[in-house]
Amino acid sequence: MTTLVTGGAGYIGAQTVRALRNASRDVVVLDTLERGNKQAVIDAKLIVGDIADQRLVAKICRKYKVTSVVHFAAYKAVGESMTHPMKYWQNNVSSTLKLLETLQAHNVSQFVFSSSAAVYGTPKSSPVTEKEPTFPENVYAETKLAVENILRSLAIDGLNSISLRYFNAAGASSDNKIGEDWATSQNLVPRVMRALLDDKFKFEVFGDDYATPDGTCIRDYIHVEDLAVAHVKALDYLESSGTTTVCNVGTGKGTSVTQLLEVAAKIAKREVPHTIGARRKGDPVSVFADATLANKVLDWHATHDLQSIIQSAFTWHSTHPNGYR
Ligand SMILES: NC(=O)c1ccc[n+]([C@@H]2O[C@H](COP(=O)([O-])OP(=O)(O)OC[C@H]3O[C@@H](n4cnc5c(N)ncnc54)[C@H](O)[C@@H]3O)[C@@H](O)[C@H]2O)c1
Repeated sequence: MTTLVTGGAGYIGAQTVRALRNASRDVVVLDTLERGNKQAVIDAKLIVGDIADQRLVAKICRKYKVTSVVHFAAYKAVGESMTHPMKYWQNNVSSTLKLLETLQAHNVSQFVFSSSAAVYGTPKSSPVTEKEPTFPENVYAETKLAVENILRSLAIDGLNSISLRYFNAAGASSDNKIGEDWATSQNLVPRVMRALLDDKFKFEVFGDDYATPDGTCIRDYIHVEDLAVAHVKALDYLESSGTTTVCNVGTGKGTSVTQLLEVAAKIAKREVPHTIGARRKGDPVSVFADATLANKVLDWHATHDLQSIIQSAFTWHSTHPNGYR
């Protein structure tokens, strides 16, 4: 029984590969390395290739007796998805369809999918449950929802899947071996770390006049190690006859940008240099998860708090200012 991890050399994939191996699961990673790093896989089996390469995926399924897949491989930059939509539809949806076709031909019936809270768009209120209507507001989110819909319909064909709707993944591994590269991430935590550690970097907070207690946007930051464990639990769920579903993976706690900057300043022992800019188009005011379903169905609970997320990120970026380069 081997789990194929697509995109396992990426930020969340690499953490999940470790979590799966810690849970004594056999793993094989498939990644183009276009946006991932060989070093992040550490000593797990890595095959460099594309999920759309049906001959290669077929060979992997046969050789490693693949019974389940955790599917991270995708592009994730919202801005790029709006300027290069075809690239996103092709890699995130069309290539995923090719992958699914190959998996079906090899009777792989358990599939964990990296979806995103972005499918909710601007929710009416938070915490957001899985019953909230989906309303993707960019091409990236559209592609995530499209795959969720494909998976829902493939349940009829016997494919059991769980689409994990991640909230804001952040932080680095506790042993400082795997983390993010601030040069390629648009996310808040790596930008805050860069503002603290790279004097040339200009960091702008997008708006402080929102209808929140301190005027800045509220998000749900989840430690990447907690997120990784959710995938192990998701495979357990599918293996104990769990049927196709979607599930939020967040802490259930909302944190404003200002609150995050305060925690970062305490850890770094200096203020985070920043300016206040205009609101960014399409940024929802407040989004955090209702994690009841993950707690109940996956028996999953976040174990790290914001302090732990920021501390791990600060340690990582202080020691890896160029990522893995
Ligand atoms: N980072 C977040 O906060 C976040 C939030 C919600 C959802 N997600 C989703 O989680 C998944 C992983 O995110 P991440 O932050 O680790 O991204 P990442 O870019 O670090 O990792 C993606 C990996 O997939 C690989 N890849 C891309 N296309 C491929 C293909 N066709 N074949 C093989 N490999 C391919 C890349 O080389 C990279 O290593 C993505 O699907 C992303 O959309 C991420």
